Amino acid sequence: MKFFLDTANLDQIQEGVQLGICEGVTTNPTLMARENISGNENLIEHYREISKRVKGEVSVEVMAEDYTSMVREAIDLSSIHSNIIIKIPCTKDGLNAIHTLTERGIRCNCTLIFSLSQAILAVKAGAAFISPFIGRLDDVGIDGVKILKDIVSAMRYYNSDAQVIAASIRNTRHIIGSIQAGTDIITSPLSVILSSLTHPLTDVGLKTFMEDAQKLK
Ligand code: G3P
Repeated sequence: MKFFLDTANLDQIQEGVQLGICEGVTTNPTLMARENISGNENLIEHYREISKRVKGEVSVEVMAEDYTSMVREAIDLSSIHSNIIIKIPCTKDGLNAIHTLTERGIRCNCTLIFSLSQAILAVKAGAAFISPFIGRLDDVGIDGVKILKDIVSAMRYYNSDAQVIAASIRNTRHIIGSIQAGTDIITSPLSVILSSLTHPLTDVGLKTFMEDAQKLK
């Protein structure tokens, strides 16, 4: 299982790489907008900077909605770096674009997946990665981890090569649930990964060890 960072922030990516917990990156238009980047040239430069910092895959999302524009945009984006994966929303035009791009050898990550049927259809279209949104399902009262488990089980049952990326991760419960579900990848904000690293018993235990270490000096 791999950890990706769900961010477009270069400092956080650098920190994650240094910690050994950034094996890839996923971005989306909202995350890019948070970095105050605008204009096509600057966006492409930013994606290039992310790609240089990370060894694994970097998902970059198309910003068009119709088939023809998505395919055109995806072809341009895929030329930025060999580790770029094209993120395409789970719509009819999106599936059509995934099918075309996959046949051209461009790997796609189907995003905005909220159900098992969407996941299966995205894989049928050729998606190399599928991204169920756990947190946003929880937001509307549906158990996101349960949907993730169903999707992972179906991928295993059908012997699919597609990799499941647990996305929209908001807390430690999502991280643990995604691991238990057997997901291939968790993409998470750095803050959530770091908060799942902490435990009160670790803090208490460390305090005692440090106090006793003083007695040994
Ligand atoms: O990877 C998708 C993710 O960025 C969505 O997260 O927190 O906006 O639901 P969130």
